[in-house]
Amino acid sequence: MILSAYLFADGVELAPDSIAACADAIRAGDLIGLPTETVYGLGADADNASAVAKVFAAKGRPADHPLIVHVASFDGGMAGVAHFAERVPAFAQQLMSAFWPGPLTLILPRRDGVGAAAAGGQASIGLRCPDHPVAQAVLSALRKPAAGQDVVWGVAAPSANRFGRVSPTTAAHVQSELGDVLKGALLILDGGPCEVGIESTIIDCTRGAPVLLRPGAITGAQVEAACGRKLLSNEELLVQDPQGLEAQKASKAPKASGTLESHYAPSATVRLMDAKALQSALDMLGNALPAGESRATIAVYTRTALKTQSKQVLLRSMPGDASVTAHELFSVLREFDDAGVKLIWVETLPDDGSWDGVRDRLKRASA
Ligand code: TXA
Ligand code: MG
Repeated sequence: MILSAYLFADGVELAPDSIAACADAIRAGDLIGLPTETVYGLGADADNASAVAKVFAAKGRPADHPLIVHVASFDGGMAGVAHFAERVPAFAQQLMSAFWPGPLTLILPRRDGVGAAAAGGQASIGLRCPDHPVAQAVLSALRKPAAGQDVVWGVAAPSANRFGRVSPTTAAHVQSELGDVLKGALLILDGGPCEVGIESTIIDCTRGAPVLLRPGAITGAQVEAACGRKLLSNEELLVQDPQGLEAQKASKAPKASGTLESHYAPSATVRLMDAKALQSALDMLGNALPAGESRATIAVYTRTALKTQSKQVLLRSMPGDASVTAHELFSVLREFDDAGVKLIWVETLPDDGSWDGVRDRLKRASA
């Protein structure tokens, strides 16, 4: 069931009853659909192993695949961090000060005995303080319970999609991904479309230096500037450490699910091509629909204006700005799927760090 998180359509004032209902659901060990500034999450009490098990089951996600735990921001997120993390390296502390609340997840050494199920049994834990008023209202309510209730220190919330699929950026997407699986019992807080649109940047802080596990809206250059350290890439580190590489290949659970080669995939097949190759491909199509088709079968998403007479093709222009593209990317892929196209042709992206997050998602969608 979708609950409006705001009292009025202007999205200014929060709806206290909706927030309270969702906080109660979390305390009772149930799941909720939670808006964040990146994508919608499927949330559960991070310290409740059976609630966390429901998240894995609903997503169809392997149980050894760690989830991100979301913490409240009122003390800079630090009380939540102290609950879940054994220690915080100085560079990680600098990243929290610079970017929290915001679209940055930090992997930290996990404190023994807390959040084990959410962490998929790993010795580390992924923590994030989201920059969304609705997520923060729920997290704050959970940290200030009425008498007789337990404090909930963090909400484990992976993206609210089935495993391997495109992350949801609206409440309606969550409903269409998980409504059936959860038999309509899921409370989904509608906080409007997500501002950022792609998942958080993930930095591993357990290896002595910052390591990029997943690019996002906060760029590598921003991370380096904020902590004054060189950001290493997971691939680079593994090349220097052949044993680690073998271990990661052999393990069924990669460090980050977003690092699986094929991920964020729509049903249609995605191909990346430069504008010239795309125009030639369009020129080779006839101007009729293929026999037996009543609608477009190819979607084309480009910054360069292309021409076609073909009824087979749905043309859509990509914004020239990386953050605007990130904001709409997953909705656009879903619209193409809903239109029933079989192929999605996307123009290759500018070779600039601000596009790394979008590039990563499209590369995986096309793998
Ligand atoms: O923007 C986001 O991060 C969204 C919103 C809901 O906050 N969440 C999200 O969660 O993308 P999820 O579960 O779809 O992706 C979390 C990623 C996974 O790839 C997971 O493997 C990685 O974070 N992760 C979490 N804990 C980890 C850990 N202890 N070690 C390594 N990777 C971890
Ligand atoms: Mg995900």
